[in-house]
Amino acid sequence: MQIRPEKFKDAAGIRTVHQSAFGQAAEANLVEAIRESDGYIAEFSLVAVSEQGEIAGHGMLSRITIDGIPSLALAPVGVKPAWQRKGIGGELIRRMIEAATEAGEQHIIVLGHDSYYPQFGFERADRYGIIPPFPVLPEVFMVLALERGALKGVSGTVEYPESFNTV
Ligand SMILES: CC(C)(COP(=O)(O)OP(=O)(O)OC[C@H]1O[C@@H](n2cnc3c(N)ncnc32)[C@H](O)[C@@H]1OP(=O)(O)O)[C@@H](O)C(=O)NCCC(=O)NCCS
Repeated sequence: MQIRPEKFKDAAGIRTVHQSAFGQAAEANLVEAIRESDGYIAEFSLVAVSEQGEIAGHGMLSRITIDGIPSLALAPVGVKPAWQRKGIGGELIRRMIEAATEAGEQHIIVLGHDSYYPQFGFERADRYGIIPPFPVLPEVFMVLALERGALKGVSGTVEYPESFNTV
């Protein structure tokens, strides 16, 4: 499995990944809305490609803010059902975290399974006074500091750009 930034020609394959992973179009639409927005960061949109050239998984980080402070949202991440539970999702997430850390980013927010994301270092965001702009269970709204002390003084409401209104 090769993990690399997405290319223009991957768009249809990425759409298929999310449609099959989530069983609906919303996340695939979100990818496309983010891609057309100012929050899109090409180097943080990664695909997992099989030896046969099939796009098996995709995940992206894009720009959001926490009370005006630049941050990143990890959304969406999906792996095609036939390719799940082989470590691809984990590898995509680790590589996104690595790319963001190397680029000097400070933190990442995720809304997701609280049984899945803690293994990558994500913690409940409410511990830091970081809160979502919509009602969700507190345990599913998580944050990852990309370096020690990165969350010092960071608190408040997370602001998602317009593109996220598609989900
Ligand atoms: C979540 C997802 C991206 C993980 O990708 P993956 O390649 O299957 O993940 P990995 O192989 O790296 O890790 C597998 C582990 O993930 C966990 N996991 C997978 N799906 C999970 C789910 N729906 N809920 C909780 N944990 C889950 C399990 O702990 C699993 O370990 P196990 O096989 O020992 O039980 C993938 O299952 C997926 O696309 N799911 C549907 C879409 C989705 O829910 N996306 C995430 C939104 S938060």
